[in-house]
Amino acid sequence: MYSIVEHEVLAPRVHRLRVQAPVVAEKAKPGQFVILIIDEKGERVPFTISDWDSEAGTVDFVFIEVGKTTQQLATMQPGDQLLSFIGPLGRPAEVGQFGHVVSVLSGYGIAAMVPILKALKDNGNTLTTIVQAPDQDRLFGQKPLEELSDTLILALGTQGDGMMESTTVAMRKLLNQHPKRRIDRVIAMCSLCLMRVLSEMTRPYAIKTMVHLTPVMVDGTGMCGACRLSVGRTNRFACVHGPEFDGHEVDGWEVLMARRCTYADESILQQGFQCRGCSQW
Ligand SMILES: Cc1cc2nc3c(=O)[nH]c(=O)nc-3n(C[C@H](O)[C@H](O)[C@H](O)COP(=O)(O)OP(=O)(O)OC[C@H]3O[C@@H](n4cnc5c(N)ncnc54)[C@H](O)[C@@H]3O)c2cc1C
Ligand code: FES
Repeated sequence: MYSIVEHEVLAPRVHRLRVQAPVVAEKAKPGQFVILIIDEKGERVPFTISDWDSEAGTVDFVFIEVGKTTQQLATMQPGDQLLSFIGPLGRPAEVGQFGHVVSVLSGYGIAAMVPILKALKDNGNTLTTIVQAPDQDRLFGQKPLEELSDTLILALGTQGDGMMESTTVAMRKLLNQHPKRRIDRVIAMCSLCLMRVLSEMTRPYAIKTMVHLTPVMVDGTGMCGACRLSVGRTNRFACVHGPEFDGHEVDGWEVLMARRCTYADESILQQGFQCRGCSQW
């Protein structure tokens, strides 16, 4: 069993849990994720590691309340236990020396990208960070982003297309300055639809654009095939070959988005998620 040691509410329906999981904490790398099961009746659900402490043996993740499991997690308190907490899973994100890196974050990506940004900063990159949120109330986790970013751009807007526009306008302004103010890489951890749009925006400039893809996952070890994607005309499993992929090579966006929406019901649509299946703003 894995004890919850902290539960912090970061914004309405956004929570951070800290879990005692020494084996995961010892091996975690930026961009990796865990799959947890709450109890005997629980489903296997993936979450990106947003922080870890190998000495204390703890692992943090931030989640948005979407459906059954995340709503149940939102009720859990320090001292409560999770049946299973497996990880770290997936390939770590690429965090080399690239130059000027623009990252685009929304929803849980605002927290889950922090370890990646830390590693990029340690490697001497210049960081521009665009944070998308529906409104000021749902903006969280600004402090570490301010500390890590050379430039922090807030893209606040109303839900739906208007909000995506606030981000694409910010990105367009940066692209218009390229190559004078050169962009060497873009990394996105936000809604699937926005990651797709960003990949198309950067394609004409040949700026490498890495996207963090979140198809439905079951085992997380490449055995079940649930998270299959087409990348570079080749079948890939997001859980073992990703979740970070080159957005210009993803050729299965429609399938990915359709499969992600398969389990979305009315209750999820009513919450106004930008892409109903990806549980991101
Ligand atoms: C690699 C990866 C990392 C993720 N990291 C985070 C994170 O750090 N924080 C966060 O809030 N969310 C994260 N997600 C999404 C999170 O897994 C879903 O929001 C969660 O599974 C919803 O479960 P539910 O029971 O609350 O809702 P449900 O009602 O079961 O599902 C709501 C929606 O969530 C998605 N979903 C459901 N089950 C899965 C599954 N097993 N795998 C992937 N998607 C699923 C579907 O699109 C579905 O439409 C991640 C997903 C992946 C694949
Ligand atoms: S989750 Fe089963 S193959 Fe990736």
